[in-house]
Amino acid sequence: MVSRLNSSSNSSEVNQIIPDHDAPAVREHAELEEIKPSFIKNADQKQTVLVTGHAGFIGFHVVKALLERGDNVVGIDSLNTHYDIRLKRERLALLVDLAKATGQVLIDLRGDLTDKTVLESCFLSHKIQRVIHLAGQTDKFLSNGTAQSCVQNNIHAFAQLLEFCKTYKIQNLTYASSHAVYGSGLERPMSEQDCANYPLRLDAATQRSCELMAHSYSYLFSLPTTGLRFFSVYGPWGRPDSVLFVFARKIVEGKPIQIYNEGENSRDYTYIADVVESVIRANDSPTQVLTHCESKEFSSTELLKNKAPWQVVNVGASVPISIERLIFALETALEKKAIKEYLTGPILEMGRSCADIQHLKKVFKYSPRTSFEEGIAEFVKWFRHYYQL
Ligand SMILES: NC(=O)c1ccc[n+]([C@@H]2O[C@H](COP(=O)([O-])OP(=O)(O)OC[C@H]3O[C@@H](n4cnc5c(N)ncnc54)[C@H](O)[C@@H]3O)[C@@H](O)[C@H]2O)c1
Repeated sequence: MVSRLNSSSNSSEVNQIIPDHDAPAVREHAELEEIKPSFIKNADQKQTVLVTGHAGFIGFHVVKALLERGDNVVGIDSLNTHYDIRLKRERLALLVDLAKATGQVLIDLRGDLTDKTVLESCFLSHKIQRVIHLAGQTDKFLSNGTAQSCVQNNIHAFAQLLEFCKTYKIQNLTYASSHAVYGSGLERPMSEQDCANYPLRLDAATQRSCELMAHSYSYLFSLPTTGLRFFSVYGPWGRPDSVLFVFARKIVEGKPIQIYNEGENSRDYTYIADVVESVIRANDSPTQVLTHCESKEFSSTELLKNKAPWQVVNVGASVPISIERLIFALETALEKKAIKEYLTGPILEMGRSCADIQHLKKVFKYSPRTSFEEGIAEFVKWFRHYYQL
């Protein structure tokens, strides 16, 4: 029998899925099969991994891959309403079904990481070995009143998590950071060795702060940490506030799309399956203290002296995609022409982003494999099916 325990404590609600191999067949999820990353190896040893933000875009895909390869997962998400909560609930429902189908344990916790009691009960009740922290708040334009919650959800939440990782001697902590830490765009691919001390956005400033906090815990308590600087992630079950969703919907509805900076912008887009692969590879191999030779290539001599098991790694496709190429790929997949409206400024975001992925290749032996056009085709297939467009 599959049993789901619903209980509520102060701030967390628990749905525990206990596997049963005689359980009746659950419904088919053809759309999940289509986006299955095919290259993640099976778990060498079954682990219990805490994934924060598992109702979110990246967290959902990471948990799906962990369950499929045989890990047990504890997920914590506050289900905030920064975008359509229906999408988050449906992602969670798919994960619950997947846990039943694969026979893995999925503990689905509802709670806010800024509330210490949520993490306390989680670490006390479950033998967590590794942590993947993907809960966070992206806030490009800092709309009214969100500065405080951005700092709370990113910095305060991470500070709490670091304390528990230290106390419970977690084997490896992998957490989300962003390409936006690099601030105004460079003309060449952005490398981990480049300065990341002048982010333009507040959410990026909080992510950079988290990287620095992680360094301190790695140094003081030998906690292995890896910050992954994601470059514009896209794919099925993505975030409705992303440019792809906005453009795809407008193209389908025959409405004009607004193109800033007269179409000069280009971005490094990373397909979700490649991001999932990078996250899991990072979490599978606890960060080592850099050797002298690695330090020369990837980091500063200061880090070498510190002997902290800490690193930050770019996760991008390393292919800058112009806005015109993005629109053309959408038009092709949607089989409909866009109505384009070119605008000059204000430009709130850097015009160009492109990841230098030498470190990703060397340390995780991985390089993203999905071409932009393939990824867009997968995204559009899902988008049309999900929104019935
Ligand atoms: N998607 C991208 O292109 C991209 C690019 C760079 C960096 N990132 C970073 O990666 C991380 C994951 O991104 P995503 O696209 O999956 O975002 P998402 O918004 O889809 O998911 C984040 C999840 O975290 C949860 N959450 C937020 N604050 C919380 C808190 N205090 N306690 C518990 N849960 C909380 C939200 O409810 C949400 O479900 C974020 O930190 C984001 O800034 C994403």
